[in-house]
Amino acid sequence: MDTSIDLSGMTPKHAEHYQRSLKSIPWATQTNAKRYDGELVPSRPPFLKRAKGCRVWDLDDKEYIDFKASLGPIILGYQYPLIEDAIKNQLSNGVLFSMASPIEIEAAEAILNTLGWAEKIRFMKTGADVCACCLRLARSKTKRNKFATSGYHGYQDWFALTWPNNGVPDVLNDFSHSLPYGDIAAIEALFDEHGSELAAVIVSPFEWDQAPSQKFLKTLRAKCSEYGSVLIFDEILTGFRLAKGGAREFFDVEPDLAAYAKAIANGYPLSAYAGKAEFMDTLDKTIITTTYAGETLSLAASQAVMQVLNNEPVIDHIHVLGQTMRDAFDDIFREFNYPAHTVGLSPAVTIQFEGDESEQSAKRVELFNILYEKGIFANKEWFITYSHTASDIAKTVDEMHQAVKQIS
Ligand SMILES: Cc1ncc(COP(=O)(O)O)c(C=O)c1O
Repeated sequence: MDTSIDLSGMTPKHAEHYQRSLKSIPWATQTNAKRYDGELVPSRPPFLKRAKGCRVWDLDDKEYIDFKASLGPIILGYQYPLIEDAIKNQLSNGVLFSMASPIEIEAAEAILNTLGWAEKIRFMKTGADVCACCLRLARSKTKRNKFATSGYHGYQDWFALTWPNNGVPDVLNDFSHSLPYGDIAAIEALFDEHGSELAAVIVSPFEWDQAPSQKFLKTLRAKCSEYGSVLIFDEILTGFRLAKGGAREFFDVEPDLAAYAKAIANGYPLSAYAGKAEFMDTLDKTIITTTYAGETLSLAASQAVMQVLNNEPVIDHIHVLGQTMRDAFDDIFREFNYPAHTVGLSPAVTIQFEGDESEQSAKRVELFNILYEKGIFANKEWFITYSHTASDIAKTVDEMHQAVKQIS
């Protein structure tokens, strides 16, 4: 049990639950980004017990306007009625069957129609699962071992090579190359040296704390085609958020395969890998199999999410409200000469603090702690959902104004 964590920022109820949790659950959570950070963000509660719309409640019933969106999956809002109805309806038929269920076809067709570019799709449960599936297919199709990555792709061995105490054999380093987002010269150098050995390049098509680079994606597309490497987009965070068709539509660059999760089912556990038939048909010869991928509740949720995405202005809403919030944040930073500005794209902007790394961190901690106290569940990426309203954003801007004034 980790006894080094400072609990003094927690309320008594949270401290009691946290200490109890640590006795049976290392980290007291399953997810790195949900770990309690007593040093950096003491006022962020370690537990939330309820969520509805764009609001979440902690163990003391304190209410927050949420911008963490469960790390991205919540695109419509918590407990969105149409999704909950689809779940209840499916529950009456059962959750997992001894053979495939028709909801697999219905969800597959709904997702492919929404994406608008991919021809075939298969399901899994996590983002890390489907990134690994795409790499497996690429290696199987090209009969090559090496790959290049840009961005974060989950906990699995092939990607966690640089993590401390990772438990991953060193030999895997021989296969992996990394590529900084937006760096065109690095693409040229990579392909000059290793192009003919690369099974795949797997990239997050957009990094939320950087400027978008269509040129980076276009260059990768051209190089992968030239060298016969498979271009894989990790659309775990961009899919169904930047546009209905994700980064592929937003940047107008087509990968060969793409990995989706998070917003695909508004918080229900579903992920998918999809692409052109030529690449997905590699599955005719390559075995990828798991027990729970055809679980029907998440598929029903996803089918309903696609219905809402196609019938309502979800994407416009999150872009417009995100832009309103972004402009207002930047106005506030300018008004108080506060050393920060927003970066990224409006569905989930990031506040970039100025100075060296430790100055940035100190500024973020100071500001975010005040925001949590004021009932704003701040996050590195400020995720907007379809349930945030103009008045939620106005209240958030007002709290940000007071917070920045207090520390300027
Ligand atoms: C871009 C990206 N890829 C992959 C993953 C891994 O997904 P999961 O945590 O569901 O395994 C994440 C998770 O945050 C992600 O943001």
